[in-house]
Amino acid sequence: MKGIILAGGSGTRLYPLTKSTSKQLLAIYDKPMVYYPLSVLMLAQIREILVISTPDSLPALRNLLSDGSHLGLDITYAEQTEPRGIADALLIGADHIDGGPSALILGDNLYHGAGFSRILRASRERLDGCVLFGYPVSDPERYGIGETDDRGNLVSIEEKPLRPRSDNAITGLYFYDSDAVEIARGLAPSARGELEITDVNRHYLKQGRASMFRLGRGFTWLDAGTHDSMLAAGQYVQVIEQRQGVRVACLEEIALRLGYIDADACHRLGEGMKNSEYGRYLMQIAQSLG
Ligand code: DAU
Repeated sequence: MKGIILAGGSGTRLYPLTKSTSKQLLAIYDKPMVYYPLSVLMLAQIREILVISTPDSLPALRNLLSDGSHLGLDITYAEQTEPRGIADALLIGADHIDGGPSALILGDNLYHGAGFSRILRASRERLDGCVLFGYPVSDPERYGIGETDDRGNLVSIEEKPLRPRSDNAITGLYFYDSDAVEIARGLAPSARGELEITDVNRHYLKQGRASMFRLGRGFTWLDAGTHDSMLAAGQYVQVIEQRQGVRVACLEEIALRLGYIDADACHRLGEGMKNSEYGRYLMQIAQSLG
């Protein structure tokens, strides 16, 4: 399975913060926002990852993540010149996906909770059509919404409905089988001129091949699309990290635990940033797991 991180968009909702930098490079507490979705793909054991962003933002993202080999990954990059919609990522990524299954994640989504790696791997294994990840929210009109019946089967999907039929938001992580690119190719732009990911998901739903994993109330899903939600995400990460003494979305630690890099390599990565607590944490982890 190939991974795609969609990290473009105009970022105007965060102006002036994003006037001269990419939203996905802004800090969520101690690390850049894009680390969080990248950690999710890593936990799903996806190693070939395409990062899509604007021509202006790609050089900085490339500086940050390079070719991914220091994490045992293969990271490549592609431009989205205009924000043509989330489903456009499937068209831009068609060569990368190369006729196989894919996982698409939005560059501003943060997931955290016990057992998430297991959920991700199980979802990959039972993939037939698409797997969406639902999460209860208090403001469902802001999201794609999935309504389920008594047995938990998806019955409708709507994008930002004025009168939501459920509080179950469809979060920004989508697992697709090999049909997704063809489905995206057949889409017409929506009223706001975008290729909507909700239309791809609806297509699978019509075929009876869309399933939903509901992330429960013990789980955390946040998006960082506004000043308030970005600050809330940073505070969440700060509280968890300080209380537990472990790091959320620490890419080098995940790579070490998955055996993609060894303890020496992890230690060296930490030494390279030993003036920061993040760097010192990597050195400690390398020693304790080495
Ligand atoms: O966060 C989950 C929600 O994401 C879903 O519940 C919705 O169904 C889905 O449409 C999306 O809603 P948003 O209102 O958050 O979409 P937005 O247009 O803000 O795009 C989400 C991210 O994707 C944002 O960081 C910018 C990036 N993006 C977006 C578009 C449309 C791109 O990189 N390129 C694009 O063309």
